[in-house]
Amino acid sequence: MNDSFDDLRGWLERVDAIGELAHPLGADPNLEIGAVSEIDYRRRGPALLFDQIKGHAPGFRLLTSSTNSARRLGLTLRMGTGHTDASLVEALRGSPNRWAAAAKQFDPVFVETGPVFENVMEGEAVDLERFPAPLWHAEDGGRYIGTGTAVATIDPDEHWVNLGAYRSMLVDRNHVTINIVSGKHGRTHMDKWMAREGRAPIAIHIGMDPLYMILAGVEVPTGISELNYAGAVRGEPVKVVRSTVTGLPIIASAEIVIEGWVVQGELADEGPFGEWPGYYVSGVSREPVFKVARVLYRNNPIVLGAPPAKPPHDYSYMRTIMKSAMIFDALVAAGIPEIRGVYAPECGGGRMMVIVSIRQRYPGHARQAGFIASQCREAAYMGKYTIVVDEDIDVTNLEEVLWAVCTRTDPATSIDFIRRAWASKAEPMLRRGEPTFNSRAVIDACKPWEWIDEFPKVAQAEPAYLREMEAKWADLFRPGAAQA
Ligand SMILES: Cc1cc2nc3c(=O)[nH]c(=O)nc-3n(C[C@H](O)[C@H](O)[C@H](O)COP(=O)(O)O)c2cc1C
Repeated sequence: MNDSFDDLRGWLERVDAIGELAHPLGADPNLEIGAVSEIDYRRRGPALLFDQIKGHAPGFRLLTSSTNSARRLGLTLRMGTGHTDASLVEALRGSPNRWAAAAKQFDPVFVETGPVFENVMEGEAVDLERFPAPLWHAEDGGRYIGTGTAVATIDPDEHWVNLGAYRSMLVDRNHVTINIVSGKHGRTHMDKWMAREGRAPIAIHIGMDPLYMILAGVEVPTGISELNYAGAVRGEPVKVVRSTVTGLPIIASAEIVIEGWVVQGELADEGPFGEWPGYYVSGVSREPVFKVARVLYRNNPIVLGAPPAKPPHDYSYMRTIMKSAMIFDALVAAGIPEIRGVYAPECGGGRMMVIVSIRQRYPGHARQAGFIASQCREAAYMGKYTIVVDEDIDVTNLEEVLWAVCTRTDPATSIDFIRRAWASKAEPMLRRGEPTFNSRAVIDACKPWEWIDEFPKVAQAEPAYLREMEAKWADLFRPGAAQA
């Protein structure tokens, strides 16, 4: 099997070939699919392709846990299936910058039609109830048809197309809500359209190659279309069809697309929803709702489910790996020297904690790295703690990072704060109705620059000597040796 694939079906074949695909049959979309997926996330299990879903025609399928292993995430990012967690982060370093730079050479190619046009429901014939829209968590206020989405919008002035992952709740057979946090590209596009025309075009891909969900769900730089960016990742342009309903590009090989116009002032109750920090934070709010003008879908369509919840959740692994690489690149692009590692662990949803290791070069280096890692576009939204450590600390090992915090900080002088930073309703520490700011702590857990050479020496055997002893005493440390 070659490495190149164009759609979710090609992706599934390859995931199956590496033994990471399971086929649960007969599950109930009412909580059961959500709970089974939650068990799978905790065990880092296989991707789950649900079929014969209760209440739905066989063949109307739903996929979860798509990017929850290094091998599946590597495959999705066209980096092969041979990766471990560490090798994937390593391989990704520099890639976001390269993709962003190459994006302009990968304009999407417009084609006449594609597999997504195999079935068309238009006007009053639209019936979204055909597709599985699970009640993912017990306290959710509705069934969410859109979780792992790629929502296409266009800037009415500059004409660049954005893909964003924004959630959609099913209201009835032909209405869905769209929930986009203020400051996100999709929201900016919509606001501009509203000011100009009182309505905004939208195309929600709810099933497709998970690559689009990944790129839609991370902070690709402003002005670069995720369609171009995806072309750069794939090494070939994305094929799209121009919609006759909205004029937006539709990914020709997508599984399911919902299209229409969001009209100014049309709002509906949305939420609560189990959100990525691990709580039902936002409660119920009034969000844009729109009448779906057209639905396109392939034969035997597959919804891409990616529900958040207390981590680890469906996309926390993906976000950790992607954010770590993107923040690393942002620091390099900002001219910070000697960045040795960046990690945004899953416990913070890949956002609320960012750990940076540096080789200290000059006074102020650690704070500079910390403040930029806290406020660059890739990390500014919903960050909270940024911890800067020395190069001897493994940023992926939280015990080691917290050891550095315990032993290389003086709380009164090592922590700086930023107030009124970019948060959202998803911030659990905000009481309902408060403005969506939060504060940030930049923790400088590096050895103090002034007396770095006098700082107490770490009490552990030399790594080379440890390796020698490990080899010499290999039998002692063999798994099960204690029982022998
Ligand atoms: C699966 C998934 C679901 C998401 N759901 C939402 C959402 O409902 N609303 C939102 O504003 N951001 C959501 N996000 C985060 C945004 O997609 C992310 O911030 C992205 O960068 C937004 O696109 P933009 O940078 O083009 O604005 C989600 C991300 C993922 C991966």
